[in-house]
Amino acid sequence: MPEKQPPFLPAAGRVVMVTGPNRGIGLATARKLHADGYSLSLGARRADALKAAIADFADDRVMSHHFDAQDRKSAAAWVDATAEHFGRIDGVVNNAGILHLHEIDEFDEDRLQESFEINVVAPYRLTVAALPHLRKTGAGRVVNINSRSGLRYVNGSMDYCITKHAAMALSQGTWRECWEDGIRSTAICPGPTNTDMAEGRPDRDRLTDPETIAGLVSMVLSLPNAASVPVLAVCCDEEPGLP
Ligand SMILES: NC(=O)c1ccc[n+]([C@@H]2O[C@H](COP(=O)([O-])OP(=O)(O)OC[C@H]3O[C@@H](n4cnc5c(N)ncnc54)[C@H](OP(=O)(O)O)[C@@H]3O)[C@@H](O)[C@H]2O)c1
Repeated sequence: MPEKQPPFLPAAGRVVMVTGPNRGIGLATARKLHADGYSLSLGARRADALKAAIADFADDRVMSHHFDAQDRKSAAAWVDATAEHFGRIDGVVNNAGILHLHEIDEFDEDRLQESFEINVVAPYRLTVAALPHLRKTGAGRVVNINSRSGLRYVNGSMDYCITKHAAMALSQGTWRECWEDGIRSTAICPGPTNTDMAEGRPDRDRLTDPETIAGLVSMVLSLPNAASVPVLAVCCDEEPGLP
């Protein structure tokens, strides 16, 4: 029998990987998890941007590594480097993502493939690469930053909605396939959040703050195996029809 877990898992000693940690929700998440006491492995495609973004909290609990969601080899290399550096991996936060808005008639296969690669294939690749390490802990966690666009359709966002719906399948599939290994996955589904992704919106002040999403990531990571939250939808406005 595995040991009984406490009502909330401690952060100290646990190692979490975060994609896209140089800005937006990813940076807020890295900052919050660091403040909680986690050790962090941060994967970004722009080393200089990451270094500047985390300058105020980079210490011996933080390692940085190259991660490009469009590079097939970078997930495995990053996982290996993380395991070698910290000796364990307890959690993965699949956060990096892109949004292209377009009319339905503006079908562009290359653009769709790019979204699919970054929003779906890369998190799948990273999750699978980390699985052996997550299994070893008996309490591995995968947090997928999805979107309300993974739960319903909004006009003008076909590429994004297709990929975020597929990413919901990835999150649910991870939850089901890895349950017996003690791994729990959660899809956090924010509505509009005040990051660069919301650039150009006239109403940025009323959007959800990235720090609030970071707080939810932290909460989800702290939950024991017996209190898994598979989906968390977050709203800054009323939207009928959401679960
Ligand atoms: N903001 C919103 O309204 C909102 C709402 C719902 C869900 N989300 C989701 O939340 C997540 C984070 O979004 P955000 O709002 O924080 O967006 P953001 O500020 O635009 O940041 C996106 C992050 O993803 C990284 N990224 C993009 N392409 C990458 C690639 N090929 N390889 C590695 N990293 C890559 C970016 O790195 P670079 O700096 O190098 O580009 C950046 O760190 C996304 O999955 C998004 O879909 C956002």
